[in-house]
Amino acid sequence: MNLYSLAKPLLFRLPAETAHHAIHTLLDGFQRTPLHSPVAKQLTVTDERLEVSAFGQTFTNPVGLAAGFDKNAELPRAITALGFGFVEVGGVTAEPQAGNPRPRLFRLRKDNGLINRMGLNNHGASAIGHRLAETTVDVPLGVNIAKSEHVDPEDAPADYCQTYEAVDSADFFVVNISCPNSQGFEALQNRSAMAEIIGALRDRGASPLLVKLSPDLPEPAVDDVLAIVEEFDLEGIVATNTTTERPASLKSSNRSEKGGLSGEPIKHDATEIVRYIAARTDVPIVGVGGVSTAEDAYQKIRAGASVVQLYTGLVYQGPTIARDINRGLLELLERDGFDSIEAAVGVDSE
Ligand SMILES: Cc1cc2nc3c(=O)[nH]c(=O)nc-3n(C[C@H](O)[C@H](O)[C@H](O)COP(=O)(O)O)c2cc1C
Repeated sequence: MNLYSLAKPLLFRLPAETAHHAIHTLLDGFQRTPLHSPVAKQLTVTDERLEVSAFGQTFTNPVGLAAGFDKNAELPRAITALGFGFVEVGGVTAEPQAGNPRPRLFRLRKDNGLINRMGLNNHGASAIGHRLAETTVDVPLGVNIAKSEHVDPEDAPADYCQTYEAVDSADFFVVNISCPNSQGFEALQNRSAMAEIIGALRDRGASPLLVKLSPDLPEPAVDDVLAIVEEFDLEGIVATNTTTERPASLKSSNRSEKGGLSGEPIKHDATEIVRYIAARTDVPIVGVGGVSTAEDAYQKIRAGASVVQLYTGLVYQGPTIARDINRGLLELLERDGFDSIEAAVGVDSE
């Protein structure tokens, strides 16, 4: 029995966003104490076989924390101490945003999922940029850049660039054109809108630059994204964001809440999108969507992901999730006769 299995029933009695803030406060306190180093030692799995090089970064392990958990870049030290191999903070917008009215985050307990319609609440690019400039962690630290709520799609390129320039000390940049919870994002996922945004970011020097996809894109639209990735020589693709679809299998009463669904219910589709992309490009893929065990991470890696990320799994499995996945990945590599994660990347792509 670990500590989280005792804390979880109590946390799960709180509204989901209140629980998130409680965890946030705990992690913030923790990262300022001397406990930080011994915990990091316990939870960091160090093994050369887990090392991955992708989009100009060296990852000591392939398990990252996805965007949305640390929207304001306040916790990278704590997250690193939990054994994650990289962190993506944000989504960040040019100006501070309050996001949507609460409640806006819902657990789907019977489905190991979440629905959120946070609406890109964040402290804004300037505050987050200053924080990032003062943050040093020994894992790659990326930032998720999103469109400001009230900016029209035609003004989106300048808006993304304004944000980029404030946060440009990060190690990599993810252009988020796939948020289902804020105004006007659908209009960004067509080929010409994407080209304008990504071209403008490239002109400002954004690199390594990755694009984050919605799992709701039909195949022709994914092909358009791949064409843009090639045209602008992007360093990577993050697949995927949350879905607005509601699979018929969902059992939880919260399934009819509006917003983006994440976790176990999107695992399969997200993996299939990774596989689809990997069969069509050599650009590194960050696989995300429903990863909560080593087997889940391994499936995404075999489908073509160089590294993986998770958010919802952390809520259900607790703070030892990165260590548990990394240990399990080593066992799976051994079982299948691979001498490294990199050797397993894409072995099951189409
Ligand atoms: C509460 C919440 C907030 C999120 N915020 C963002 C965000 O700001 N930007 C983004 O690109 N993705 C955001 N995401 C999506 C995650 O980064 C991830 O793509 C998605 O949840 C699928 O992974 P998971 O199943 O491991 O949670 C958010 C997800 C959740 C649950």
